[in-house]
Amino acid sequence: MAIGLGTAALGRPQYINIRQGNFKNLDLNSFKKQGLQLLEEAYNLGVRYFDTAPGYGLAEGLLLEWLQTKNDPSIQVATKWGYTYVANFVANVKVHEIKEHSLSKLNEQWETSKAFASYLKVYQIHSATIETGVLKNDSILNKLAMLKHEYGLEIGITTTGTNQTEVIKKALDIEVEGHALFDAFQVTYNILDQSLETISNVLNEQGKKIIIKEALANGRLFRNRNYNHYKELYTTLEKLAKKHKIGTDAIALKFCQQNMQKSIVLSGASNSEHLESNLKMKTISLSQEELRELKNHSIQANNYWLERKKLVWT
Ligand SMILES: NC(=O)c1ccc[n+]([C@@H]2O[C@H](COP(=O)([O-])OP(=O)(O)OC[C@H]3O[C@@H](n4cnc5c(N)ncnc54)[C@H](OP(=O)(O)O)[C@@H]3O)[C@@H](O)[C@H]2O)c1
Repeated sequence: MAIGLGTAALGRPQYINIRQGNFKNLDLNSFKKQGLQLLEEAYNLGVRYFDTAPGYGLAEGLLLEWLQTKNDPSIQVATKWGYTYVANFVANVKVHEIKEHSLSKLNEQWETSKAFASYLKVYQIHSATIETGVLKNDSILNKLAMLKHEYGLEIGITTTGTNQTEVIKKALDIEVEGHALFDAFQVTYNILDQSLETISNVLNEQGKKIIIKEALANGRLFRNRNYNHYKELYTTLEKLAKKHKIGTDAIALKFCQQNMQKSIVLSGASNSEHLESNLKMKTISLSQEELRELKNHSIQANNYWLERKKLVWT
């Protein structure tokens, strides 16, 4: 299961990224229909891992609706708790989502997410940080341990920001009743931010699941004159794309998958064209020399996240 589908862009028309194409502002019904079609298309193209969250607007509901048409135990759903979507599909609101790492939010969001039933395999704290205190909150950790045993779930965290390695280390040390609590780690990793590599061996040695998000750096990996400082990377990606006869997106996704061997890489595709193009990564293999060439384009995690903070909801 090398590639999964992230549903962030299927549940909310606006999302933090760089949109270079002509994004159509659909009415809610058409938007929903398009999301359901994309789930079906992904399934038909072999995707079996679906990542969602209550913070992704309609996404959990869409996935639940679509799953009613399926009876396939190979489908795996990962969801999260901790963010509430509040934009109500209005484009220009100031606040799109609210973060709350409390036991009451966990209990409230679990009530909806448990409807995934046997499809639900991974349950994650959405954007765990030191600051929210979630990793020290015993009532939350005990509840997650209880869900893990009762429902046979893998419990995970998702991480974001310069200190994601520090957060992962803290999470690895957490035990409930003598057993490690966290099994799955959804992390940012891509050609620009390769900082995960400082801890990926530990994760692999301990048999943890690694799920890679933002593999395309939210769209920054596509040639863009606002990011002229990446022009050498764009040239390298385009050269490799031409050689392998696929898109630069597939090269960038393949880079992640080959460097993080057992990971699941999430595609954040919001339309068929991107989905098909992303999935072509399955058809190629990059040589060691090509991987090395791409590796040279990493930047400091601090700079990566400073730039990421400036991205807006589009
Ligand atoms: N836990 C978290 O906090 C968190 C945070 C972020 C993401 N995630 C998960 O990870 C998934 C993937 O991440 P992501 O979507 O944020 O980031 P991403 O994959 O790094 O980037 C998505 C961007 O790439 C563009 N794109 C994709 N394929 C393309 C193609 N073939 N040609 C041109 N542009 C293309 C998209 O364009 P369009 O805008 O036109 O669609 C979008 O702007 C999400 O769906 C979500 O499930 C989790």
